[in-house]
Amino acid sequence: MIRLETERLRLRPIQSEDVEPLVDLWTDPEVTRFMGGPRDGTQLKTWFEEDVIEPAPDPHDLWPVEEIATGQVIGHCGLLDKEIEGETEIELTYVFAVPAWGKGFATEIAVALRDHAFEKMGITRLIALIDPDNGASQRIAEKVGMRFERDLVRPGGAIRRLYAVTVGEKPDAKP
Ligand SMILES: CC(C)(COP(=O)(O)OP(=O)(O)OC[C@H]1O[C@@H](n2cnc3c(N)ncnc32)[C@H](O)[C@@H]1OP(=O)(O)O)[C@@H](O)C(=O)NCCC(=O)NCCS
Repeated sequence: MIRLETERLRLRPIQSEDVEPLVDLWTDPEVTRFMGGPRDGTQLKTWFEEDVIEPAPDPHDLWPVEEIATGQVIGHCGLLDKEIEGETEIELTYVFAVPAWGKGFATEIAVALRDHAFEKMGITRLIALIDPDNGASQRIAEKVGMRFERDLVRPGGAIRRLYAVTVGEKPDAKP
């Protein structure tokens, strides 16, 4: 479990009042446009409610992101294990509700997660898998110091751009 606080955001364990905003987030066609489309809200609600009762012990997961000024949950961010051509990689993942876009929130939490992963968790490499048409996400990847490595085909056939940063590269990042 990760807890992080930045200037404007707090990433923390899930609470029962987070279930509704998180279901709204993952069932929004605009939010999920480059992430495989809207999820099944009923199934998500069940999973999130189970998570409130018994949080997953996995250190790699997504957690609610609260805007400190309002107390509202506006995003779902974290680290996820991804199988890529036989290797397990750790993906830096950032998802925000549409009204929160364009305020620098994703960059703010992504930088904090990168630093936490490298400095506190012993993680040495982070990746992002990004739809080629998702310009904002590619920009965030660059701002956290990631470099484009290659395009790959995911199970199911979707093309994703693989961005990555290793712990040694981080000081060169120019946010
Ligand atoms: C992608 C997403 C996380 C961006 O969140 P955000 O808080 O608006 O991002 P930020 O404000 O921190 O930064 C966005 C950057 O992308 C740039 N940008 C926005 N739209 C862009 C586009 N279409 N093409 C290129 N760059 C773009 C912004 O100008 C900004 O860069 P700048 O600070 O250098 O000007 C948000 O739109 C989102 O949650 N989308 C849906 C989920 C998603 O696609 N997540 C990524 C999965 S790989």
